[in-house]
This record gives sequence, C-alpha cells and structure tokens, in this order.
Amino acid sequence: MVSILFFLATLVASAFADGYTCANIMRNPTQNLSEPYYYPETWRENMEPTKYAPNQICNWQINVPEGLYATVIFYKKTDSESGIKCTYPNGEQVYIEDNDQNPYKFTYPRFQIDLQVGDKQGEFSFKVVWSEYPDGRSMYIGLDGVHSIASVPTSYYTTVTAVNQVMLVGFSVPDVPLALLRQSAIYEGGYTNGTYLGNLVNARSGQIYSTSNKLGVYTFGLEKFINQTVFMVLDSRAAGDIVQYTGTNCPTDPNKSCGIFLNSQKNVSAVATISRQPDYLTLPKGFANSITLKIYGETMEESNLFATINSNYQSMFPLRVTNSLKIYHSDTGLLTVPVAKNADAAKWNSVFDGRYIIVRSFDFNRQSYAQDTTETFVTDPNNQMYFKFNVKYLDTNGPTTLDVNVYKNGVAVFTATYTATNPPLPFPNGILGDKMEVNYQTYGNYTQGFQVDILTTKNDSPTTFPTLAPGASTTIGTGATRGTTQRYESTTKSGINKFSLTTLAIVGFVMLV
Ligand SMILES: *[C@@H]1O[C@H](CO)[C@@H](O)[C@H](O)[C@H]1NC(C)=O
Ligand SMILES: *[C@@H]1O[C@H](CO)[C@@H](O)[C@H](O)[C@H]1NC(C)=O
Ligand SMILES: *[C@@H]1O[C@H](CO)[C@@H](O)[C@H](O)[C@H]1NC(C)=O
Ligand SMILES: *[C@@H]1O[C@H](CO)[C@@H](O)[C@H](O)[C@H]1NC(C)=O
Ligand SMILES: *[C@@H]1O[C@H](CO)[C@@H](O)[C@H](O)[C@H]1NC(C)=O
Ligand SMILES: *[C@@H]1O[C@H](CO)[C@@H](O)[C@H](O)[C@H]1NC(C)=O
Repeated sequence: MVSILFFLATLVASAFADGYTCANIMRNPTQNLSEPYYYPETWRENMEPTKYAPNQICNWQINVPEGLYATVIFYKKTDSESGIKCTYPNGEQVYIEDNDQNPYKFTYPRFQIDLQVGDKQGEFSFKVVWSEYPDGRSMYIGLDGVHSIASVPTSYYTTVTAVNQVMLVGFSVPDVPLALLRQSAIYEGGYTNGTYLGNLVNARSGQIYSTSNKLGVYTFGLEKFINQTVFMVLDSRAAGDIVQYTGTNCPTDPNKSCGIFLNSQKNVSAVATISRQPDYLTLPKGFANSITLKIYGETMEESNLFATINSNYQSMFPLRVTNSLKIYHSDTGLLTVPVAKNADAAKWNSVFDGRYIIVRSFDFNRQSYAQDTTETFVTDPNNQMYFKFNVKYLDTNGPTTLDVNVYKNGVAVFTATYTATNPPLPFPNGILGDKMEVNYQTYGNYTQGFQVDILTTKNDSPTTFPTLAPGASTTIGTGATRGTTQRYESTTKSGINKFSLTTLAIVGFVMLV
C-alpha cells in the first residue's frame, strides 16, 4: 500500500515537473516583426514540441492590428487531445490537429488559442509571425446578375462587387491537402481590414456571402502550391434556388476516380465544375426516381439548361456535358455522378437500345470560335439500330455546315449537309444503320454552335421525337451581335482556370492598380 501511494505520488510529481503550466495571455505583435512570438518562449521549431502539464485550462488572445495578418503554425503531439482549439476573428472555433503543420492565417482584429486538457499529458508549442500585407496589385471583378467568374490562387487582392450580395463558392483541391486552403481569407467590403468572413476551407462546406455587395479575397502565396480553380464568385441572385453550392476539381492524376457529389437531402444543392474539356459522365449507381438532376452550362438561365434527368436516367447516360462552367443542380436526395477520364472510358460513342444522346458544340449558346465538333456513334458489331435525330439548334453563320451521315455496312444510307441556305427540316423517321456521324464545321467563323439530339432504338417506333428539353423545334441562328460576346468571353477566360489579367482587362472587368 505504501509503495503504491509512493508510486502514484512520484508519477504526479514527475508529470508536473515535465510539463509547462500556462496562464491566460494577451499578446500584441512583437516590436520587430521579423521576430516571431514563440510559445513557450524558449521553444524553437527544430525542437520537439514542449510537454504541457495535464488538467489545466488557459488561453492566448493574440491581437492582429489593421494592416497586419498573423501566420501561425501549431506543433501538437497528443493522444488525440480534443481540448486544444483556436478561434478565428469571426468566432469560428476549430480543433487543432496533431502533426498538422500547415500554417493558419489570422486577420484583423484578433484570434485566440484555447487549451483545456484532461489528465493525459501531451506536447504543444506554437509560433506566431505578424506580417504587413505586401503592397500588391488588386483585381476588381464586377459581377452582373447571371454570370460567374472563377479564379485560381493569385498574388492579387481580389475585390468583387455584385448587384446584390456576392456569393463565393469554394472548390475541392484533390491534389493537395485541404489544410493548404487555410492560407486564404475572405473579407467583407473588399478590404483586408474588413470583417473576416471565413476562408476557402469554410467555403468547401458551403458558399460564403458578403453582407454588402462587396467582398475581398486574399490567398497569401497559395499560388505556389495550387494551380486549379479555388473559388468562383457570382451574384447571389444568379444562383437561383441553390441553398448549398460547392465546386469540384477532378484529380490531375487520371487514374484517380472523380465524381460529382450532390447532397440535397435537406436543401437544394449544386456542384460546379470548370474546364475547357467536356465532362463525360457515366450512369450513377442508385439514381433514385425522386431525384431531378438539372445540368446547366455557363449560367442557370433556362436557355442554358443542358439536360433534365429524372426517371429517364437509364437512357441519358453516358453524357458529354459542354461549356466551360458546368452546373449540376439537384433538388433532393443523395447522388454521386461518376466523371470518366475521357470519352472512351465513358463509352460515349457506343449506342444501345433506347439511348438518348445530346450532341452539343463546346461553347453552345455563346459566340465562340471553338464550336467545331465531330462525333461518331456506333452500334455493337453486327448489330443495327434506328438512328433518329433532331437538329435542335443550329447557328449557320457564314460558311458553317452541319453534316449528318448514317452508314450501314460501310455504305452511306443517309447524308445531309445543313447550311444557311439548306436548313434542317423535321425528320421523323429512324434510319437503320450501324454508324452515325455528326460533323459541325465553322471554318474559322464565330458562331453560337449547334445541338443535335439523337435517339437510338432497336425497333423504329412510330412515336414522334421525344422532347426532353424545351424548344423541340429547330432554331436557326445566324450569329448574334458581338456586344454580348465580350461579356461571355470573360467567363470563358476564367473558365480556362487562368485568370488572364490582360484578357480580362481588355474586356473591361478588371483594372490593375
Ligand atoms: C529585427 O529582428 C531581426 C531578426 O532578429 C534583426 O536582424 C533586426 O536587426 C531587427 N531589427 C531591428 C530594427 O531591431
Ligand atoms: C480599411 O482600409 C481602407 C483602405 O485602407 C480604409 O478606407 C477603410 O476605412 C478601412 N476600414 C476600417 C474598418 O478601418
Ligand atoms: C500552373 O500552370 C501553368 C500553366 O499550365 C504553369 O506554367 C505553372 O508552372 C503552373 N504552376 C504550378 C505551381 O504548378
Ligand atoms: C495510370 O495507370 C496506368 C496503367 O496502370 C499507368 O501506366 C500510368 O503510369 C498511370 N498514370 C499515373 C499518372 O499514375
Ligand atoms: C436546409 O434545410 C433545413 C431544413 O429544411 C433548414 O433548417 C436549413 O436552414 C437549411 N439550410 C440552409 C443553409 O438554408
Ligand atoms: C465568317 O463568314 C463570313 C461569311 O462567309 C465572312 O465574311 C467572315 O469573314 C467569316 N469570319 C471569319 C472569322 O472567318
């Protein structure tokens, strides 16, 4: 008995001897900003984090004056101690993870570190560096009520102005740790001393709104680590009925799988993807009949609705979704839509009985030079199908042509070349064959593109062509005015994932100061 007590007493004593006891501390920046504040003050990064004594509570309140920000690295090694947290200037409290040395950025006016530990000992040290925001160039984005503008990390201060409120949508970064996105801050009003609204980690779980019509973003050198879209901004009204809006980047490694995950169990949600490549989507597992998936290109306007998928889902996949910005909108349930790495992986060019195919030029519905499209659809070997098609939209500006050919055993059984002077006529019958080609050529001309819908069936049913989207009759365009074009161009440039400043400046959306 005596020996046990003695043993316990020694244990407690040694524990206290080993660990520091902290007190509540309020800190202002060091006089000399090149000198960091360390805790404990004798600790340095090349050492093991310092042991703390168990069963204690304390906090550090650390001030960040206007014009400065703080970079903080926590060095924590514990037995999953959950009582060590930090609090952002907006009151958001987060757990500090063990062995996570990606820096935190804290902005005006202050942040707090809380330590409330149980009877287990652990190690915890940290380093704070206050810095002045560098003199930098600013980028000004003016949002209209419908379009979105996306950005990769840059060294610029970005100030966004909307008609109503600014909505900022965060994108996934599958190639790097999510914690890297902590190197970002979003400010109300567009200045770095404005109210802190969150960072790009927060934006991963849902959009961030400005209170006024202005918001600022700064990414603290994140451009050295990330080269993908990290956020997109739009006017709050441009998001329609979306309650939760996020963005998805696919992994750069094509061997890694990619999917568009929509959680609309509680609220209408949407996911955006941005690239100058189409998204090839394959049939999702467990597509519930109650779900309506709407896909839009560039904007959420009805005229940019690409497809509506509900109980018709079996016939709609695979799908080739065009436009730089693709918006996937779901009203209910849970849905993961697989994104294939290319057309072959999606079996995009193979037809089956009852397949409904939407063939669209890349920049459909916007003036663009990048509309030329060639697609070939084939049946299984030794198999023939009825190809039924409907030219839903065709811009025949200049010398533009749309060729539609159907072949059977290598022999053309249907050929047509549609032009401004030879517009498509409604063509009610299916054409029996084993291959169909659709070829849209603009010969360098600026057009709004085309859409051909194709239905492939084993039996030629007498039914009329299904109208799965509004405007079943063919619309012939001859090129719109260039006035609206330039507006669209700005979305394209951001859509290429490069915030091309020169281009944007030309279009008048960005001024450099
Ligand atoms: C600030 O600290 C750095 C690093 O310790 C030192 O080199 C520099 O001389 C200091 N500047 C002043 C003005 O004290
Ligand atoms: C923030 O900084 C801007 C520009 O330096 C200044 O105009 C503004 O008054 C400041 N806002 C606050 C809340 O201090
Ligand atoms: C980002 O992409 C551009 C163009 O593709 C390339 O020049 C640059 O080196 C890339 N930067 C990083 C950090 O990967
Ligand atoms: C992807 O997988 C293929 C086949 O397994 C392999 O040859 C290729 O190197 C992989 N690519 C990458 C980027 O890992
Ligand atoms: C989502 O829906 C729930 C239940 O309908 C509601 O309470 C919640 O406020 C909604 N979330 C948002 C962000 O609007
Ligand atoms: C588009 O076609 C028209 C009519 O053929 C021609 O006048 C114009 O130069 C063409 N534009 C381009 C960019 O080729």
